[in-house]
Amino acid sequence: MKTIFSGIQPSGTITIGNYIGAMMQFVELQNDYNCYFCIVDQHAITVPQDRLELRKNIRSLAALYLAVGIDPEKATLFIQSEVPAHAQAGWMMQCISYIGELERMTQFKDKSSGKDAVSASLLTYPPLMAADILLYNTDLVPVGDDQKQHMELTRDLAERFNRKYGEILTIPDIRLPEVGARIMSLQEPTKKMSKSDPNKKAFITPLDEPNQITKKIKSAVTDSEGIVKFDNVNKAGISNLLSIYSILANKTIPELEEMYHGKGYGDFKGDLADVVVNVFKPIQEKYNHLMESSELDRILDEGAQKANQVASKTLKKMENAMGLGRKRR
Ligand code: AQP
Repeated sequence: MKTIFSGIQPSGTITIGNYIGAMMQFVELQNDYNCYFCIVDQHAITVPQDRLELRKNIRSLAALYLAVGIDPEKATLFIQSEVPAHAQAGWMMQCISYIGELERMTQFKDKSSGKDAVSASLLTYPPLMAADILLYNTDLVPVGDDQKQHMELTRDLAERFNRKYGEILTIPDIRLPEVGARIMSLQEPTKKMSKSDPNKKAFITPLDEPNQITKKIKSAVTDSEGIVKFDNVNKAGISNLLSIYSILANKTIPELEEMYHGKGYGDFKGDLADVVVNVFKPIQEKYNHLMESSELDRILDEGAQKANQVASKTLKKMENAMGLGRKRR
């Protein structure tokens, strides 16, 4: 079986963008791949986090992974900071990265722009992400479109490491969803939807109440034309809503355009809200149950143990190849 690794930051509650761009793929892929799904809390602290909020978000994200359908019998679910090899291999990846290539990363530019104080870790986030992936001899990384540049760098770093120190690391491929690789903000449809957006109206989470979901969809920015038609350039708002509808209701965009021909945005948004509420209702129920059970800790403990076994083996090979410490088997 080929191996998959992917992570999500506990930097807030996941959005419908994380769900469509990442989690829906994970659920499908766990049947055919050896999967590692990680709660990347060390990535989350590259920007300031409230410690109590972070702890809450880590647990909540673990419950959400399971509630959307990740099966711990099939996939390994774990927390990044509970597997020390990530930070250790991350350092080694930093040592073979160049400042210039890290400064060119769009996410670094976006997250650092306009800030007075920018942490060094915001710049060195991609080598840590590379380590996360490479420690598991990963073949494939399912992510949304925003992570494409980081994935290209991961491949470059793995190739660079192998050239310098011998063929140790597997070069991973990226897997983007066919549709929904980039879900946009509901308030600024030319900007990616993000869980850390200070404007809560810009995103929907699987834990939102039905009336909140309906309100957010009804107030989503569209245009004054009133025609339900996909046109990403001139009608970014309605096109984004069409993408969400199409994926969650399993209908094609032309089918939806036909269904809403001659109807206004009100009908379309009302129906879309019902679709989203119905998709998230069973997830919320499972989530509430998991948050109150001890099952979650058991799954995370087992996950950390399994991940540690695999990651520490790769780490040893990397350290031996680089000449760190004493030679070990
Ligand atoms: N808007 C999106 N559409 C599709 N996929 C998305 N992803 C993120 N946003 C969208 C995918 O979700 C996975 C987890 O992302 P992450 O938490 O590691 O970091 P991110 O990409 O920076 O996500 P956010 O929500 O924007 O987090 P914050 O606000 O903390 O920066 C990845 O596979 C990502 O591609």
